[in-house]
This record gives sequence, structure tokens and C-alpha cells, in this order.
Amino acid sequence: MTRLRCDQTSAWPALQALYAASGKNFDLKAAFAADPDRFATFSQGAPHVFADLSKNLVDAGSQTLLFELARECRLEQHRDAMFSGESVNGTEKRAVMHFLLRNPPVAQDDDESSAIKKIATELTQVHATLDAMLAYAEQVRADTAITDIVNIGIGGSDLGPQMAVLALGEFATTGKRIHFVSNVDGDELATVLKGLKPQSTLFLIASKTFTTTETMTNAHSARRWFEAQGGRDVGRHFAALTTNVAAANEFGISTTFGFWDWVGGRYSLWSAIGLPLAIAIGAAGFRQLLAGAHAMDEHFRTAPLERNLPVRLGLLDVWYRNFHGFASRSIAPYSSALRRLPAYLQQLEMESNGKRVDADGKALPFETSPVLWGEPGTNGQHAYFQMLHQGTSVVPVEFVAVKTAAHAPHDLPGHHTKLLANALAQAQALMQGKEDGGGHKHFPGNRPSTFLLLERLTPASLGALIALQEHRVFVSGAIWGINSFDQWGVELGKVLAKDIEPRLRSGDLSGLDGSTAGLLRKIAG
Ligand code: F6P
Repeated sequence: MTRLRCDQTSAWPALQALYAASGKNFDLKAAFAADPDRFATFSQGAPHVFADLSKNLVDAGSQTLLFELARECRLEQHRDAMFSGESVNGTEKRAVMHFLLRNPPVAQDDDESSAIKKIATELTQVHATLDAMLAYAEQVRADTAITDIVNIGIGGSDLGPQMAVLALGEFATTGKRIHFVSNVDGDELATVLKGLKPQSTLFLIASKTFTTTETMTNAHSARRWFEAQGGRDVGRHFAALTTNVAAANEFGISTTFGFWDWVGGRYSLWSAIGLPLAIAIGAAGFRQLLAGAHAMDEHFRTAPLERNLPVRLGLLDVWYRNFHGFASRSIAPYSSALRRLPAYLQQLEMESNGKRVDADGKALPFETSPVLWGEPGTNGQHAYFQMLHQGTSVVPVEFVAVKTAAHAPHDLPGHHTKLLANALAQAQALMQGKEDGGGHKHFPGNRPSTFLLLERLTPASLGALIALQEHRVFVSGAIWGINSFDQWGVELGKVLAKDIEPRLRSGDLSGLDGSTAGLLRKIAG
């Protein structure tokens, strides 16, 4: 499918003109004063997530042009191509079907989308694997001899399950401790192993490819530790979550849960990679996570662009990056349980859309992925919110708040109200600012933010929140015309590390640049 590059559409120069004429001077307070319905017009409900977009630098004019841009870029057709299993990951010649992992089974005579029916074979495999994985999770949960689970994986094989296990701690109905080891820094593995016994530990080796250096190094060390400590049954104490079952078998692991090359690493929480979460919250909880994400998939797939939350968020991202020139976005989950959400979203957004060429490999003359960063509120307030309020750069902030606290309010009275008050106050302060003579105590205000609100943090709402983020990344990537599903930019460093590693032992500096050679000498001395 040929698609018009976004800067060659008629909406693009129209957006540039609008930005120059009025967009750059957009005044949020004036917009609210002029339109009493602004909150309703610029808020959007979606499954499990309510979004207040009204504190963003948009009005009816810019929104209309952004939707036009989406249509000219054939966003809907591109979305439908993904949902019908076309190879939208062109550089790897792969379909992109993580959404299928959360699709309920479809009977042949169901009136479900014909697009899903086309990929019915894959869906059958998905459910067979899911059932097996969840049955294993239940078996582990019931196994009182196992007290500790160690997930060894990195990137998408770590960030998703770790973020979700922390987020859903309230729903963890097993007493088992779940540890995550990702870094090749031996300190991390050693610290986790310190308190463990081989006979009560289950290692999950999570790697899509089963070749990632960090993970394989940690996996081999874990097995050495297991055997050295008298562990005997590798078959019982190691399981692999991977698309490369042959390599896992070769490693000596017979319990394997597979997935498919059409699941990108950073989109793999819903696959066997989610096993640590399934062990923590149980099969029923994991199915609720999938159901929440599926509800968001259906919203993205079927809602008109104008009422489609992932579309509205993705277009806002384009508006800010390419017209306002905002280089970053800060994510502020006002929930301690969501403390790993920023790290998870960093991979999702920057590994997906941190590209400088289009899907055909041609250099792009405009900016793509913003830098994504953040910490949970209220901690961020006491660290970098100073810069958000009074710094020289404007950084749109995305608040994520939860209406009802995880803990019973009578246990910790007042906490949740204070937490919510802070989230609302920060969004308000960013917008309103404070006139104080232009000096140190002056807040310029007019700083944009989005406020995402969940009723409660549950498996279903977490699933919906994450699927929402996946799809908004899809939207901006589609507008930019890039392949959001490859990650060639991570390869060079891996190759160079393989060259440098033996030099650290041999001291061979031949052919190296002056800085690397100098550092090697320093390390050797
Ligand atoms: O190096 C980047 C990357 O390929 C990510 O995309 C991926 O999530 C991570 O490494 C881990 O890969 P694997 O699951 O194959 O070990």
C-alpha cells in the first residue's frame, strides 16, 4: 500500500500555517474562558481509561487538520493492514499481530471481524499456547516447594512483565517472590541469588531470540549456580519463554512456552513472556489483562478517528513534535504501583519510533520520536518538576491517575486524596502559571498536559492502558511513515561489544579509535 509522506500532504503545510498564525500563541486559559464546554469537547472516554485532553494546545481548527492529516496519510488503512495480518514490519518481512494474543477465540460462524477470521490459524495456536502457559502458571502457584521465581530477560522480555507484576501487586494471590534479572552486570544476578536455594527456585529464561548476550550470560551463570549449590533437576527448575525453542532445548530446558516472530519484543507482555505475571496474579487475572487490552484494540479498530483515543493521543504527539517542536514528553504516573511504567514506555516509544528514515529507508526531513522520561508522582515533583514549571523548554506532561486507591482507605487515611490532589494541582499549575513580576517566583503557565484517569488499577485497566500506549505509538509512527516494529539501531553496539570483549583480555588495541584505545589502556592499567 502506497502512502503519502506526511510532509507531502495538504494538511501538513496547513498545520504549519496554522501554527505560525495562531498555534504558537495558543493560550489555554483564554481557550477555557472562550469555551465553557472545552473539557467535554476535549475529553475522551475509552475502555477503562478516561482522558482529559483539554489542557493541551489544541482547538477545533488544529484538531480538524490533524484528522485530515491522518486521513491523507491513510492511517485507517494502515491500521486495518496491521489488524488483517499484513507484513507491516517491512524490513523484517513480518506481520505485526500482538493484538491477536488478546483476541478471544473466534468460532467460524461468529459475526466477528472477517479480518480476524483470516488469521484464524494463528489464533488457534495462540489459544493453545495461552492455555498451556496458564495451566503451567497455576501448577507453579500450587507448588509449595517453589518459593522464588527468577525471570532472566532484558528489554521487552523484562520491562513488560516487571512493570505489570509491580503494577498489579494488589492482585498477587501467591506468596511467591518474583525477581527480575536483566543487566549483564553480575551484581544484579548475584544479589538476587544470595538469598535463594536451588530446590525452591524456578528460573524463567525469557528471550524472544534466545541469543541476547545479557540474557544468555545470566542464564548460564544461573545454571552454574544451580548445579554448584546441589540443584539436580534442571528440567523442573528452568523454563524458557521464547520463539527459539530449539535453542532453549539445546541449553537443556525442556519446559518451553513459545510465541511467534509476529510479536515484537516490546509488544510481548501478552505472550508467554507474561508468565511471571500469570504466576503472580493467576490465570483468571491474566485473562482479565488480555480482555482489557482487547477492549482497547476494538476501540482503536472501530471508533471513528474523531472519537478514537489512541488516534487523538498519537496526533497530539505529532502536533507537539513537528509543529511546536517539543523534543520530549514526561510521563507522570501518580501511582507507586506504576513506578516502572516510564521505563516500559521508553522502550515502547523510543525503540518503535526513534527512526530517521521512512519505511523504505529514505531519510526523513522532520523529527520523529520524542524523548520519553518520567518518575512516579509525587516523587518527580521534588526532583525535576521545577524544570517543567519554570525551565526554558516546554515539556508536555502525561499524568496517569487512579480514582480508587489499591489499599483500603481506612488503612491509610488521607493518602490517596493527597496523591490525587497533587496530580490535579500539578496539571493546574502547569496550565495556570502564576503572575509574579517575571522574576524567580513567576510561573509562565500555558504548559500542556494530558490527564489519564483509571477507575482502579486492575488487570483489565492495566491491559487497556498499555494497549492504548501501543496504539498511540502506532499512530504517530504511521503518520511519520516509519516502520515502528524494527530496531536496527540496537545492532551496532552489540557487534562492537563482541569485538571489544576479547580486547579487554588481550590488550589488543589495533585499529581502534583514540578514545576507545585510551579507555582500554586506562582499564588495563
Ligand atoms: O536489543 C533490543 C532487543 O532486541 C529488544 O527489542 C528486545 O526486547 C530485547 O532486545 C530482548 O530481546 P530477546 O527477547 O530476544 O532476548
